[in-house]
Amino acid sequence: MRKPLVAGNWKMNKTVQEGIELINEIRPLVEGASAETVLCVPSTSLYPLGQHLQGSNLKLGAQNVHHAEFGAYTGEISALMLKELGVEYVILGHSERRTFFAENNHSVNKRTLTAVKHGIKPIVCIGETLYEKKSEQTGQVLTTALRDGLEGVEDFSQVVVAYEPYWAIGTGKTPTLDQIAIVISFIRDTIGQLYGEKNSESCRILYGGSVNPSNAEEIFSLLDVDGGLIGGASLKPQQFAEIVKAAK
Ligand code: 13P
Repeated sequence: MRKPLVAGNWKMNKTVQEGIELINEIRPLVEGASAETVLCVPSTSLYPLGQHLQGSNLKLGAQNVHHAEFGAYTGEISALMLKELGVEYVILGHSERRTFFAENNHSVNKRTLTAVKHGIKPIVCIGETLYEKKSEQTGQVLTTALRDGLEGVEDFSQVVVAYEPYWAIGTGKTPTLDQIAIVISFIRDTIGQLYGEKNSESCRILYGGSVNPSNAEEIFSLLDVDGGLIGGASLKPQQFAEIVKAAK
């Protein structure tokens, strides 16, 4: 029922020209893949790369959106502006945004509601820091993020949750398969408790953090995992394609 999804998060990498070259390499490699595949590219590349993606099965994603529709918010980009460029997904609350740009569950909530209102599917990132993991706060951190970050969302088929432990991002470290399975099932159960069974069933939940071609298949085969959010490996065409194909 839930279509698998693999999203590449390019972060602050690739100029327009480099992005075009990367897409040219990725596109033939992922043809016929069963997973929905999204490229979340830098803001400056959204328009040209969106044009370049037309006619392909790759979808366009952004890496943030402001909650207001317009106004005095220097440096920010609105959902209307993204929508105009054909953006279908937007990453929200990434740990790097929370760490370096002071975003929190409340700002993520406002941005999430704005994205949904304008028909852009948010990929809402939640996860625990190493300190929180060691002090056994993971459950509480995730519950708070789901309660405060997704409050007011009515239809979870339009929302994606990405579980990204801070300590697994860009480190080559991943939780064990058992740990991923337990935490992602916990996230699905918690969505059920907070927002109802139907929403828990329809929400796609991704795993992110050091996913690579050797671990993707076993991670994606876990019952409640609907795909992945990929950082470093999304910049390497062969690796990204293998990861996309692992999501069935
Ligand atoms: P890596 O895949 O490089 O660990 O990054 C994960 C990530 O932050 C995706 O949003």
